[in-house]
Amino acid sequence: MIQKIKIIKILIIIFSFTLSFSANAQTVEEIIKGRKAMFSENYQNAKKISILLKSKRIEEAKPLMKKISDNYIKLLDYFPENTKEGFKTGALPSIWENKDEFNALMKKASEDMIKLAKAIETSEDLRAAQKELMWSNCSACHSKFRAPH
Ligand code: HEC
Repeated sequence: MIQKIKIIKILIIIFSFTLSFSANAQTVEEIIKGRKAMFSENYQNAKKISILLKSKRIEEAKPLMKKISDNYIKLLDYFPENTKEGFKTGALPSIWENKDEFNALMKKASEDMIKLAKAIETSEDLRAAQKELMWSNCSACHSKFRAPH
């Protein structure tokens, strides 16, 4: 009887481990689609920021900058080795050949959004600030790491 209970306990432990493992593991499709969705969201928010800043709505723009910054940090985990192709990815192989450089650009883009949220409080030229701390990072990364579209 005791023996049986032990076996059942062990089985339950093994079963719950497998469950939590498969719950954490995202499929290649989920990862590629997930990163595309985050880049698209960033783009939508960047356009909203431009519109808001045209009418000097600084306080409304700030949370969107934080959101973009946070997405960039999440994106660092969205380029594992097994997601180089498939699902219409526009990611170039150069990402995995230069992972440190790619990650550094991602982190810079994230930090610059926080800097931008500060800069707009005092900046006289909001357009120039956006160009320097937001838009320039998109092209810097795309020119090397994203397929032309
Ligand atoms: C550090 C690199 C990096 C930065 C910074 C970056 N991107 Fe990208 N972006 C990529 C990569 C790589 C892809 C391709 C992802 C894929 O298709 O798997 C991409 C894809 C996209 C897409 C297409 C998403 C889709 O649905 O296919 C859009 C839109 C986009 N980026 C906009 C932007 C904008 C706007 C900025 C700046 C505000 C930006 N990105 C900053 C690397 C970057």
